[in-house]
Amino acid sequence: MPKSIIIKKNGGPEVLELQNIEIGSPGKNEIKVTNHAIGLNYIDTYHRSGLYPIKLPSGIGLEAAGRIDEVGPNVTEFNKGDNIAYASVPLGAYSQQRIIPSKIAVKVPDGITHELAATLITKGLTTNYLLTKTYRLKAGEIVLFHAAAGGVGQIFAQWANSIGAKVIGTVGSDEKIKVAEKNGYSHVINYTKNDFAKEVLRITKNEGVPAVFDGVGKKTFYGSLSCLKIRGTMISFGNASGPLDPVNVPKDIQPKGLYLTRPSIAQYFTNRKELQDGADTIFEKIKFGKIKINISKKYKLADAKQAHADLEARKLMGPAILIP
Ligand SMILES: NC(=O)c1ccc[n+]([C@@H]2O[C@H](COP(=O)([O-])OP(=O)(O)OC[C@H]3O[C@@H](n4cnc5c(N)ncnc54)[C@H](OP(=O)(O)O)[C@@H]3O)[C@@H](O)[C@H]2O)c1
Repeated sequence: MPKSIIIKKNGGPEVLELQNIEIGSPGKNEIKVTNHAIGLNYIDTYHRSGLYPIKLPSGIGLEAAGRIDEVGPNVTEFNKGDNIAYASVPLGAYSQQRIIPSKIAVKVPDGITHELAATLITKGLTTNYLLTKTYRLKAGEIVLFHAAAGGVGQIFAQWANSIGAKVIGTVGSDEKIKVAEKNGYSHVINYTKNDFAKEVLRITKNEGVPAVFDGVGKKTFYGSLSCLKIRGTMISFGNASGPLDPVNVPKDIQPKGLYLTRPSIAQYFTNRKELQDGADTIFEKIKFGKIKINISKKYKLADAKQAHADLEARKLMGPAILIP
């Protein structure tokens, strides 16, 4: 019987329970998949802790890559044996095998392993929309990205560099500075020791940056606003240090005429074609060597508790996966 991680209540990593699950056959518009690698994402900890409420009991995990075992009625775009990946609800990617709606899957081309696909769909799609759609990053610009040694952080600077832009990155320890530099950041600031906003202003000769990409949330929000240029764009896309407090628009946004957005993947990839196109752009970048992926750690599915504990303790230096 296949195994899956189930949560029955919200809490710390200890609520992740490995259980046997029954799987039937796929229904209309569904496919049955054997997962070969599962993406570990910070958002998984929000679902587990209750920061993002979900109906319990529930599976957990948004992202995995594997092979199709069976296709249900009405599925025309996939066949048994196809290599696919997905990064979306319904939750339950932390499983050896499962049934998913075919509309959330993308085809994975030859040359991209399951491990690579599971590492980069969520993080790659996120980077893709952040710097091509939410803010159209241009050659010659310099922007700020927080948690530069993290999963999204690894892809972000390489992608920005590939279009001729530079990125200032922040990291939580001196150990992570080298990792961020290797990822392509032109300047790296340890924000647990230094005032990152002051450093950004120093680097940009008091001009500030036109955009900040902030997945850290509560701790970095006001510093980020203060090192933005006039009419700059604040992109708050995550809450690793906690969710934002309500924003005081006249006080925080009006003086510099800033733009503030809180985007998610779902708003930028709204159908299967957009999803496949977005994923293909990432696969191409990998194929042509524009982005190199270094999987920082591989955990067994049974060790998901440890994976969450390490992620939340800021121990990981780059993307990690679970092997079912
Ligand atoms: N909106 C979207 O569409 C979307 C999609 C994917 C991911 N995200 C968000 O993007 C961010 C990065 O995701 P990821 O999966 O690649 O994770 P990650 O960057 O590998 O891990 C999160 C990082 O946040 C930093 N951090 C700062 N304060 C922290 C704190 N108090 N506790 C824990 N970590 C803290 C840590 O780096 P340092 O030690 O270097 O500070 C940590 O490594 C997350 O906020 C995630 O929710 C958003």
